[in-house]
Amino acid sequence: MLLTKESINSYLHENLQQIAWNTLQQTCQNAVLSGGKRMRALLVGIGASSITASIDTKNLFPAAAAIELFHAFSLVHDDIMDNATLRRGKPTIHTTHGVPTAILTGDFLLIEAYQQLSLLPIHVVGSVLQLFNTTAKEICIGQQMDMEFEKKQQINLDEYLQMITLKTAVLVGAALQIGGILAGASVPQQEALYTIGKNIGLAFQIQDDYLDVYGNEDFGKQKGGDILAQKKSFLYLKTRQISNEIMQKSFQNIYQDTTLANADKINQTIAIYDEINIKSHTIESIDWYKNKALKIIATLPNPSILKNSMDSLFISI
Ligand code: IPE
Ligand code: IPE
Ligand code: MG
Ligand code: MG
Ligand code: MG
Repeated sequence: MLLTKESINSYLHENLQQIAWNTLQQTCQNAVLSGGKRMRALLVGIGASSITASIDTKNLFPAAAAIELFHAFSLVHDDIMDNATLRRGKPTIHTTHGVPTAILTGDFLLIEAYQQLSLLPIHVVGSVLQLFNTTAKEICIGQQMDMEFEKKQQINLDEYLQMITLKTAVLVGAALQIGGILAGASVPQQEALYTIGKNIGLAFQIQDDYLDVYGNEDFGKQKGGDILAQKKSFLYLKTRQISNEIMQKSFQNIYQDTTLANADKINQTIAIYDEINIKSHTIESIDWYKNKALKIIATLPNPSILKNSMDSLFISI
């Protein structure tokens, strides 16, 4: 393993300690270091290892840190957009420090991410930046779609897939591809890494939608947050797709109801999910994208690291 969670954490810690204003140092450290799996940062190292065993880890740290800082930025702003109260088991930054400080915390982390990218070797910085910027703009569009879908009734699963590709999957693809770029991957190898990451990201977001409803305490987010925000989640859309007309009507009435108490709304929605056995439909879809990724992983020069990491990326549900 070229990068470990511990080595990434200490690299990030060292950088965030240098923030020259106490409040922002606290909030930035909280946003980045208060937990998190470091999946995307680790995938930078794994992407590189899938191409060659001989790579200078010195260059991997700034790239992995940039991806993780960007991810943390996106979460701080996402929690404002989603009105979320909990992140990684702790109160969200906008609830403890207010929305303006949370916005600045996100901004700071985004700039910090670019500062890390500026440390990359000159022969790769152009292509990494291009991929990073394209990805960042796609994520903004995905986030905007996600919010607009809350208020739209006629969203289908294809539109959902387009939205989660942008808000989540492209960053996972970019993490693997950036690792590949640093390892000198050919263009087809870079494309393979990107597509693998995109499929992992799709599976990951569908799992995240599932865990929003069925995750246990250590998932660290407010249970049923997607239901309360009327998110057009995988669970919601799949239920609508496979239920009969009568069920569809009553389901939609509950999901749109703004007068129900939060706990009642969540419980009534879950009762319908259980009735339709949404769990097995969700697992089926997650496995489909995981298998799609695994097929392409097999074509890489060193497939074993990524193949063996797949299970640890996904919580068994
Ligand atoms: C949360 O990502 C945001 C999504 C795209 C679902 P993670 O589940 O990877 O969050 P952390 O970094 O481990 O907390
Ligand atoms: C997160 O999607 C996507 C981004 C942060 C870009 P969610 O809104 O589902 O993520 P969580 O569930 O709050 O982590
Ligand atoms: Mg969101
Ligand atoms: Mg959210
Ligand atoms: Mg979510």
